[in-house]
Amino acid sequence: MAERRHLISIDDLSDDELRWIVERGVEYSRGTAGATQPLSGTVVGVLFRKTSTRTRTAFSAGALRLGAGLVTYGPADLQLATGESVEDTGAVLSGMLDVLVARTAGPEAELRAYAGQKQMSVINAMSAVEHPTQALADLTTIVQHFGRVEGVRVLYVGEGNNTASALTLALSRYPGTELHLRTPAGYGVEQRYLDQAAASARRSGARVEQRHDLSGLPPVDVVYTTRWQTTGSTKPTPHWRSEFAPFQVNEALMAAAPDAVFMHDLPAHRGEEVTAAVLDGPRSIAFTQAENKYHSARAVLEWCVASRPSGGAGR
Ligand code: CP
Repeated sequence: MAERRHLISIDDLSDDELRWIVERGVEYSRGTAGATQPLSGTVVGVLFRKTSTRTRTAFSAGALRLGAGLVTYGPADLQLATGESVEDTGAVLSGMLDVLVARTAGPEAELRAYAGQKQMSVINAMSAVEHPTQALADLTTIVQHFGRVEGVRVLYVGEGNNTASALTLALSRYPGTELHLRTPAGYGVEQRYLDQAAASARRSGARVEQRHDLSGLPPVDVVYTTRWQTTGSTKPTPHWRSEFAPFQVNEALMAAAPDAVFMHDLPAHRGEEVTAAVLDGPRSIAFTQAENKYHSARAVLEWCVASRPSGGAGR
């Protein structure tokens, strides 16, 4: 039996696989992917233990459009809620499902535990530390807009959260990209992701740097931010809003990046991390980016089932 593919971290993907998923997402967005149903005969489980609008809908609609059957679970539906272990849950579900899309907002180890079996692919729909499917949709959006990822310069402003970690790992794979992280002190992208990105950047010629102020902004093509209150997380310091306030993306900040488009993974809180004038303004591509979650989700699902033994996944 062919090994199942899991997408728990961007680092689970080779450079070729990363590029394939991004380019395939672009094809889905342009309607040039072909009328195939690569998930025909498969069943996809969608388990969200935390709230979601985009990711849950993208993977559910994507699985249905690609021909899969769907089983969905809310936060209290499985016996996990009564104490069954993640390992036992993964083992049981793997006898019935081909793919499990899971949002845990917990540690990566929880998703690795679901993946501790040989029959069912596991997709990280957001954990506490990384949001890889967001980064794939983001790169899809960048290719759609700029025609390439290579050489694109991104200024990321705000919390170094799971979205930022995944973006750091993904962008650093592409030659000539620049990622300038500007995060409040104490809320940066974790060092282990910066170290992983540095290793990729040594190979690719990308540049990744993190600072905790907004002075000396470089010329960039994209300004990116995320909601200050990341889903499922709390802040360790009571006065965090005053620490985040200088990192708001507003007209003044966008004026310092005159050629840049604005990206946001959504959901947004207008007046906090971004002003309404920027989010709803002519340079914002945030809602195209949200739609790309759907196109990119189909690419991820197709990549997962492409590892199936010939004859499909029906067991
Ligand atoms: N960006 C994102 O992951 O959105 P949802 O939380 O709505 O899925």
